[in-house]
Amino acid sequence: MIQTSVKADDILKHKTDCLILFSLETKPAGLLKQIDGLLNGALTAAFQSKRFEGKLNQAFQQSVRGLMGADSIIVVGLGKSKDVKEEQIRQASGTGAKAAEKSRHRKIAIFLDEKNAGKPAKSKKTQIGSPVAAALVEGAQLGLYHFDQYKSPDKDDPPSRINEITVLASSKSKMKDYQKGVDQAEKLCEAVIATRDLQHHPSNTATPAFLAKAAQTMARKHKITCKVLEKKDMEKLKMGSLLGVARGSHEPPKFIVMEYKGGKAKDKPVVIIGKGVTFDTGGISLKPGAGMDEMKFDMSGGAVTIGTLQAVASLKLKVNVVGIVPATENMPGGSAIKPGDILTASNGKTIEVLNTDAEGRLILADALVYAQRYKPKALIDLATLTGAVIMALGHQAAAAVGTDSKLVQKLIESGDATGERLWELPLYEEFEKATKSDIADLKNITSKGVGAGTITGAAFLKPFTGDFPWAHLDIAGTAWTSNEKPYVPKGGSAYGVRLLIDYLKNL
Ligand code: BES
Ligand code: MN
Ligand code: ZN
Repeated sequence: MIQTSVKADDILKHKTDCLILFSLETKPAGLLKQIDGLLNGALTAAFQSKRFEGKLNQAFQQSVRGLMGADSIIVVGLGKSKDVKEEQIRQASGTGAKAAEKSRHRKIAIFLDEKNAGKPAKSKKTQIGSPVAAALVEGAQLGLYHFDQYKSPDKDDPPSRINEITVLASSKSKMKDYQKGVDQAEKLCEAVIATRDLQHHPSNTATPAFLAKAAQTMARKHKITCKVLEKKDMEKLKMGSLLGVARGSHEPPKFIVMEYKGGKAKDKPVVIIGKGVTFDTGGISLKPGAGMDEMKFDMSGGAVTIGTLQAVASLKLKVNVVGIVPATENMPGGSAIKPGDILTASNGKTIEVLNTDAEGRLILADALVYAQRYKPKALIDLATLTGAVIMALGHQAAAAVGTDSKLVQKLIESGDATGERLWELPLYEEFEKATKSDIADLKNITSKGVGAGTITGAAFLKPFTGDFPWAHLDIAGTAWTSNEKPYVPKGGSAYGVRLLIDYLKNL
């Protein structure tokens, strides 16, 4: 994490490599007008020539050496005043921070003039400290994320990296609120970054055992409990569905259970389950070779679950939360399950495996059954479950399917607030019927012609959720990105951590 601090200082005189400022889609006002004056109208000229119009994520860079305390400024557009919410501030901050890094600056200072450049509409009562300061830090820290652990250092051409972020406050009176907002954001970003790191490790490092170790190390550090069930424990629990998937691999499966108790002892917990397939070859129903490397990200739901537990614990939220990660590889080894095989899950239901590549639902089935022992007030699973969700929503939202409309609605609201959007798909009865097998209770894929691959995936899971309020989030289109976004660089996005934290804060 990049070191971050808060300072109240004269913005025009503050010493830094690069000062990041923000502008609405209106001519320079307030502080920007003053700066425009110092620059002989350079900003006004940029507006006039339409080089810079304050549109969201547009950036204007200028050397101000000798004219201001900073060496350079970057003014980032925030868009129209009525549209400015925390998400726009996060994006603009990420855009500015990345532009500064590209220009090889080392230290940045960020200032958002709340009087003249869009204070977000309303901040929730659950927010601790300034939401503006929090959004600025989130945008910069997450936008500047890099994963270089496997790169040898290049002495001749070291990569440009920002090593210091200062959030500027307009007055001393704002400092306390800003510091609180920054502290909250830092804890959240630390968890998001830990999640992204887990996602990025290749599958020959990030095995189920590696995930289990990471969860245990995190749990020890944050004083929560974590137990790891081994294959023999899963056998005792009759988790035939999960064990069926694991049979094709030499890597032993792990079943990770983390418990955080921040609420009252008798409060029912929220249980979060994340798909932890550390590599998905498809199994005997082998995937095509092109792009198969991306299937190292098939444990993203699991990484998000571990990261969420970390954030919940470090933010000391007053809720009880359990995180469960069924972790395994999906490989086509000699003992692998074959199309047509029938597995028996831990609730006794039999499953005809018609496609070994629909493995996510098989491991989640046993995890959902296990979760029922907690009598959860909400059961939320996250999984890179279906390619079909990319057909439906591209990479712009994850799909939500569930049995409790209030739960789904709350999650959607948290998605909107955090920029980790969700879109609900309907769990019609017809789709549930389509998962019935001719020779077993269920089949893991539906017949050709049923369509709606994301919903049928969810429909398969429903019989394993008991009567508990349940929401399934299909993150296959959003767990990683190939086209970077303002504060999501290429690669693992940790999609879901910030959304779940917002949801848990609002409880
Ligand atoms: N992990 C994949 C889903 C996936 C695909 C995630 C592309 C991210 C990008 C999952 O295990 C899978 O293979 N699903 C199959 C299901 C099908 C066999 C019913 C799919 O989507 O093709
Ligand atoms: Mn698969
Ligand atoms: Zn998979």
